[in-house]
Amino acid sequence: MECEEKKFLQAVELLKQGEVVAFPTETVYGLGACIFYEEAVQKIFSIKKRPSDNPLIAHIGSLSDVAKLAIDIPDAFYTLSSAFWPGPLTIVLKKHPAVPALVSAGHPTMAIRMPDHPLALRLIQAVGEPLVAPSANLSGRPSPTQASDVKEDLAGRLPLVLDGGECSIGIESTVVSLIDPIPTLLRPGSISQAQLESVLKCPIRLASEKDPACSPGMKHRHYAPRARVQVVLYPERPSTSASYLISSEPLFSALVFNRRNFYSRLREADRLGAEEITIYCGPSVQQDAGLMNRILRSAGLL
Ligand code: TXA
Ligand code: MG
Repeated sequence: MECEEKKFLQAVELLKQGEVVAFPTETVYGLGACIFYEEAVQKIFSIKKRPSDNPLIAHIGSLSDVAKLAIDIPDAFYTLSSAFWPGPLTIVLKKHPAVPALVSAGHPTMAIRMPDHPLALRLIQAVGEPLVAPSANLSGRPSPTQASDVKEDLAGRLPLVLDGGECSIGIESTVVSLIDPIPTLLRPGSISQAQLESVLKCPIRLASEKDPACSPGMKHRHYAPRARVQVVLYPERPSTSASYLISSEPLFSALVFNRRNFYSRLREADRLGAEEITIYCGPSVQQDAGLMNRILRSAGLL
């Protein structure tokens, strides 16, 4: 523990000096840098080989940080942040001109979230500025849900990975845009469309791929293991000869998956050299829009 505390203090120093550090959040591990330090933000893109047209999320440690990042903040923002922050919800607002254009990939908008993880919150507060943090994987790979996943992808490419154990949620945050008068769901996650609508007391719309407001990151291939992925949806049944089968129901495979361990199941299959992964989705998984989105994307079906 003492060792982790030492690493925490090192992480704070490294971030203040413009370095990049990986840290845990409740969703997935993030690759953090100080938002106002352009060289550090640039390092994030090169370390994870991220396309420069994919904007980053700012992670804040206190609500007052929003004023440094966004302008013309609508009432719906306060409704959502008081209901869901700290937590797995990212809110897109109009960008403050002081935020480097690199952060938002040139868009006039800014994605912001307050993570619900004690280590992440302490880190942001100790650095004293919001941190941008994409998921700490190589671009395109499954997101990391434990420190060893970060090292698997990025060992030698960054000076420090803070270990906070396994992430409790396991898929990335829900992203909602408040740029238009009708809120738009850009990326489904563990906070559902129905939960957002019930708090906002208004319908929200789903972004389509052709939508200019669409989350730019959603067009890139994502969350994919090296193995080919095949998806089998209930009421279809997986073939008994499926080579590497992961299943939402124990009936078909001992390799049961859920939201929390889905990405680590994909990584395990890669480590074992599987050429093909079959993912069986029972009825309840099919109701989980966030998880289904990641499953279909991992197979290249979305
Ligand atoms: O749970 C999460 O959100 C994790 C943890 C580390 O917080 N972070 C994460 O970041 O998933 P990343 O960079 O892997 O995904 C960010 C998503 C991308 O799809 C990106 O296009 C979208 O958010 N995004 C970021 N800024 C945006 C903006 N200004 N407008 C629309 N979409 C934006
Ligand atoms: Mg990502």
